[in-house]
Parts: sequence; C-alpha cells; structure tokens
Amino acid sequence: MRLRFAANSVRATGLRALAAAGVAAFAFAGNLAGCSTGSVASPNYESTGTSAAITFHKDVEPILQKNCQGCHVTGGIAPFALMTYADAKSAASEMVTATTTREMPPWGAYSAPDCTPTHGFQDDLRLAQKDIDTISAWQAAGAPEGNPSDAPKGPPPTKAGALANLSQSLTPDTSYNLTASTDQFRCFILDPKITKTTYMNGSFVIAGNPQIVHHALVFADPNRESLALATDGSNQYDCFGGPGISSPSLMAAWAPGAVPQDFPSDVGMAISPGTLFIMQVHYHPHATVTNTSDQTTFQIRYLDAPPAYTLLPELIGNFDQPLSDVGGFKAGLLPGPDDPPSGPEFMIPANSKGHTEEMEFDVPSSVGGGVPLPDLYLYSVASHVHYVGTEQQITIEHTADFLATTPGAQKDECLLNVPAWNFNWQRFYAYQYDGTIEHLPRIGPGDKLRIKCTYDNTLDNPLLAESLHERQMAQPVDVRLGETTLDEMCLGGFALVYKNQ
Ligand code: HEC
Repeated sequence: MRLRFAANSVRATGLRALAAAGVAAFAFAGNLAGCSTGSVASPNYESTGTSAAITFHKDVEPILQKNCQGCHVTGGIAPFALMTYADAKSAASEMVTATTTREMPPWGAYSAPDCTPTHGFQDDLRLAQKDIDTISAWQAAGAPEGNPSDAPKGPPPTKAGALANLSQSLTPDTSYNLTASTDQFRCFILDPKITKTTYMNGSFVIAGNPQIVHHALVFADPNRESLALATDGSNQYDCFGGPGISSPSLMAAWAPGAVPQDFPSDVGMAISPGTLFIMQVHYHPHATVTNTSDQTTFQIRYLDAPPAYTLLPELIGNFDQPLSDVGGFKAGLLPGPDDPPSGPEFMIPANSKGHTEEMEFDVPSSVGGGVPLPDLYLYSVASHVHYVGTEQQITIEHTADFLATTPGAQKDECLLNVPAWNFNWQRFYAYQYDGTIEHLPRIGPGDKLRIKCTYDNTLDNPLLAESLHERQMAQPVDVRLGETTLDEMCLGGFALVYKNQ
C-alpha cells in the first residue's frame, strides 16, 4: 500500500499543500547530525567562578573537538579552523558571541515552556549551558593555553562517516562552476535506473567541493518531470524554491558535518520504477575560495526485500485558505493577526514584526478508497520557512480515543520547537527511541496537527535585509505564500513510518 493522504486530498480541493506549491530548500535527514563523531566526554571542569583554572587544553579543546571541528577544519565548510590553540585564541571573542547567541553550533530545536518535545533528538548538537559558560570564562580569563598534556586523548573527529553497504553512487555527468558571488541553488538530475519497486534504507551525500557546498537535498521525481526543466540538455538547472516539479517527495538531505542517513534495518522508503532523483545543491561562495568547481555525489543503500515498515516522507502546510472540509477531513489556515474581516488569509504585512500564521491539518481516518489509516509513527520532523520567518512550532492535539488507548499520552504534544529559525541550516530532527518503531511518537486519526510560524518583515531581520538589498529594494513589501525568495512558506516535514500489511 502506498499511502499518500495529505498532498493528494488537499490538492484535490485547490488548497496549496506543499506538493502543489513546490518544495523549497528543505533538509531531510533522519540522522543529519552535526560534526560530532568524537566520543570525547565533556570535561570535568571547575565552576566558572574559578576562571583562573580554566585552560584551552583542559576545558575548551574537548568542547571544540566534540562540537565544532567536524566543520571548523582546514578544507571544511566553516570559513576558519578551530583545531589548534592559536586558531581558538584568535577567534575567542567570536566564539563567545556565536555560542552565547546559540548561532553555533548550528542546531535549531530547543524546548520552550509551552513546547517541550516528549522525545529527545538523535545526534543532538546543542552545547550544554556549562560548555557555553566555559568558553566565555576562558575568554574572559585571557584565553590561557594551559598544559598540552591536558588535551583530550581521543583522535580528532573524522569529517564525516561513510554509508555502510552502499548499493549505488550517482554523480552528475558534468561539474558545476560557481561564478556568482551570491548563494546559488542548482538542481542536478540523477537516474538510478530503477526497473522494479525498490526500497531505500540509507543515503549520504558526498560534497564534491566542501568549501562551497552549503547543503544538498534530494527529491524523488517519479514522473520524470525534471527532464523538461533542464532545457540546455545538461541535466542541470537553477532552482531556488524547490525542484520545480508537481509533487516532489523529499528523500534525503545533507549539511556539513552530517553523518549518513541510516534508517533502521526494517524500514525503507519505496521508490517506483523509472523514478529520477533531483539533487538540489545550495552553493555558498566565500571570497577566499579559489576552486569554485563542484561535482557532488549521492549515495544510496537499497534493501534486497520489501521491509516490515514503510517510511513515507510527507510535507504538510502552506495553506492559504481558511480551515475547511477538504473531502472528509479539515485543513487550512486558522485565524491570526492582521486578517481581513472576510477571514484568515496568508499575508505578512510589510514592516510587521512578530506576525504569525497558523495552520491545521486534521489527520484523516482513511487513506483513500476507504482503507483505514494504519498506525502511524513519526520518525523525524522538520520546519521550513524562508527569509522572513523567525520561529516555528509544530504540535499535535490528540483525540479522546487516542488518549484512551495510549497510556501516558498527553493531549497536546509538542513535536518540534524552533525558536530562532536560520534558513541556512535546515534539517530534519529524528527522535530518539529505543529501536522499537512503536515507541516513536504516534499519530492517530482525527488528531489535529498544527504548524505555527512567526515572521519578522522588517529591516531588523538580517536575512530579509540582505535579500532586499540584493534586489535593490529599499523597503520590505507585503509577503504572501509562494516559492521565490521574497515569498514565504509555513510548512512541516514529516517522516512517517507504518507497518506493511
Ligand atoms: C555543521 C558545521 C559547523 C559546526 C558544527 C560549527 N560551525 Fe561554526 N561555522 C560554520 C560555518 C559554515 C560558518 C560560517 C557562517 C555560516 O555559514 O553560518 C561558521 C561560523 C562560525 C563563527 C563565525 C561567526 C559567524 O557567525 O560568522 C564562529 C565564531 C563559529 N562558527 C564558532 C563555532 C563553534 C565554537 C562551534 C562549536 C561549538 C562551531 N562553530 C560549530 C559551520 C559550523
């Protein structure tokens, strides 16, 4: 059974589900970890009150090794290395700023009093507050080196892992040369030459030129629509908002420091015969980089036999019509600020700050043709907005039936809270669980999934200011739903898992 309840039913009513609106740059990766592969434990250090005792080798180096060096290494994606004492000393005050503002390491999922996910996340990159305090105290104490023999004994982290039992490796025929000085989004068509339904169980992206590849997303194109978009015969085309096809499904993503996406051995994503893959690469130029040529590779591991569980990527949200019945269930916008008397609309007025758009999707009880909804589990989740967006929350309100049959369940469950959205660091957050799929967060028929997005449509928003500047626009404009850089979205990504019958 191929389950496709969200996109199809919503599109059928003219609402803009993501499949209809197009997918924007959007990272999917169950295991998209940060660079942390080291097994170095956090140091046992004195309280920050005794900062005189804090040294680089004893206290700061273990934090850098575990949380920073996968990217901040010569030849890595970060613009400078943080490998040696000299590296760290010269960047000490920037490190304090970047870590206290939680801009670094790049990680968006933080709990809030009104939204604390019930499950933790795999490969959590967050620095503990005590590590942030250690870096600050070390800098305030004059960034002392200390004794090199106190340095962590373990090997430095490797830049990235490798996908085990690789089945296929796909690379564009020709390389791409980044000549622009602004960020570029390029789509590459890859043909896996699949002749019968195949199940993807793992994937990984190998950046050809890690100094300019900021992140990469891979979409399935089952109807081979992308071929018509690569008009110059090169199997490549420019693409900002998404791959430009009618119903893209997001298969994989990679950001610097990621480990391979490894689904559990009994889980696979179905890929139909003839499907093409579209790899969208986000290129980020640096003034100091001289080699601007890239040829990035997508690696896949397939299963030999159909798995016990199917993993289904669904993108839900981007509604621009009020909540209404869309054929047996409800979906749409909830009332919010600045709505006209006629009802909710998706519109972020120019110069508004803290404007919100909230949408709801009521999980249907059947998946078309009257087939009852199977038990659905959530493996990973992601949010997506563009440059005007600043925050997202994804929550679910469970039905009374669900609560009666699910011991310990809470009526209102927080799935993801992203208080400081950063377009440049998108990813899926995979939940921690004990290896039993049934212990992942569950979704039941009639549950109300809600996605709330907050926007800053003023010049105080640095990504928006930069984007307006690039377009030689002096002032913000009213922003509506759409695919281009100055349009917005409010979208959730969900990797659902269900047991095959
Ligand atoms: C996943 C890769 C990655 C990890 C992990 C990472 N960085 Fe960065 N860092 C970058 C990149 C890339 C930049 C360049 C700015 C950007 O693209 O956001 C950067 C920029 C910085 C800057 C410059 C400030 C700025 O905003 O431009 C500092 C300081 C910094 N990182 C410190 C750290 C520290 C300290 C850690 C670990 C606690 C860390 N980073 C972990 C990739 C990473």
